[in-house]
Amino acid sequence: MVAAVRVHKHGGPEVLTFEDIEIPKPGQGQIKIKQHACGINFIDTYFRMGMYPSPVGMPFVAGNEGAGEVIAVGDGVTDFKVGDRVAYVVGLGGYAGERVLPAERTVKLPDNITYEQAAGMMLKGMTVQYLLNRTYKVEKGTVCLIHAAAGGVGLIACQWANHLGATVIGTVGSKEKGELAKKNGAHHIINYRNEDFAARVKEITNGKLCDVVYDGIGKDTFPKSLDCIRPLGYFVSFGSASGQIDAFNINILQQKGSLFATRPTLNTYTAKRADLVDIANDLFKVVGSGAVKIPINQKYPLKDAQKAHRDLEGRDTTGSSILIP
Ligand SMILES: NC(=O)c1ccc[n+]([C@@H]2O[C@H](COP(=O)([O-])OP(=O)(O)OC[C@H]3O[C@@H](n4cnc5c(N)ncnc54)[C@H](OP(=O)(O)O)[C@@H]3O)[C@@H](O)[C@H]2O)c1
Repeated sequence: MVAAVRVHKHGGPEVLTFEDIEIPKPGQGQIKIKQHACGINFIDTYFRMGMYPSPVGMPFVAGNEGAGEVIAVGDGVTDFKVGDRVAYVVGLGGYAGERVLPAERTVKLPDNITYEQAAGMMLKGMTVQYLLNRTYKVEKGTVCLIHAAAGGVGLIACQWANHLGATVIGTVGSKEKGELAKKNGAHHIINYRNEDFAARVKEITNGKLCDVVYDGIGKDTFPKSLDCIRPLGYFVSFGSASGQIDAFNINILQQKGSLFATRPTLNTYTAKRADLVDIANDLFKVVGSGAVKIPINQKYPLKDAQKAHRDLEGRDTTGSSILIP
């Protein structure tokens, strides 16, 4: 038996139940790992409250990201052996002392990346990789707006976009968060709790607006985010921290300047193993070189998963959060 955090019914953080569970042996194509650190992500709250349905029914073990060492290998697995250091993003099963994973969805961890770094970056960092390199290609001279710039995805995105040569405008919910985002690569900060962020973007860019807006907030920043984008620019809506955007008339994209809009997910961009490996390797490269740092600003024992979710949803965190089994 190992300690795990399960959800038996949908609801608030209180439905996260700390209990002992049995982890099966790895089957065909699977590996079993002892987890050293588990990542905490906003998507974990969507599954917990039922906004995203659990693909494995109820109850389910929460969590979608982690890192650890291989302790058993199932039939047909040739790429991994006992003792390998690995990391993953895989739907559910993350908040536990051990777990079984499809070898196909797991990557080996380079020696210069710690388990804690990996748990704090696989989901968020691979997301930033595809958002900045594949969804819209950020390069020298790009002007981008990154909402929730001091958050988990936000701090990685600010550093990486800056590294690629972009001018980075970040929105934040407090002065302290603004200072942190600035230290992590944002050139301009807007506190969207007390400033009109579209008006400020217009001012900062001398009316030119942004090539791309990365919006993980959803409901509260729509449709104003569209007013920050230049004609033919990109609206990348990649999350719903404040709730999902209501149905809207697509003609608004015409009115705002023939905009492109997309709602991407990491799952789609890493559906093929070759893409998963490329995206993970690129992340390992920028973190390994020191160009992007992974600020793990909250670390909780596994039994405190409820508090971790309260902090995340209460906007009380910055950077990445992890659980230690
Ligand atoms: N599509 C994908 O592939 C993908 C992958 C990873 C993450 N995501 C999305 O990216 C976003 C960020 O994820 P994360 O795990 O890094 O979380 P996070 O940014 O660390 O936390 C969310 C932040 O959003 C801001 N926020 C604004 N309004 C909020 C509200 N009503 N309730 C809660 N927070 C609010 C808060 O920052 P301020 O206080 O500064 O406003 C808060 O700290 C989420 O929407 C997530 O679903 C998408």
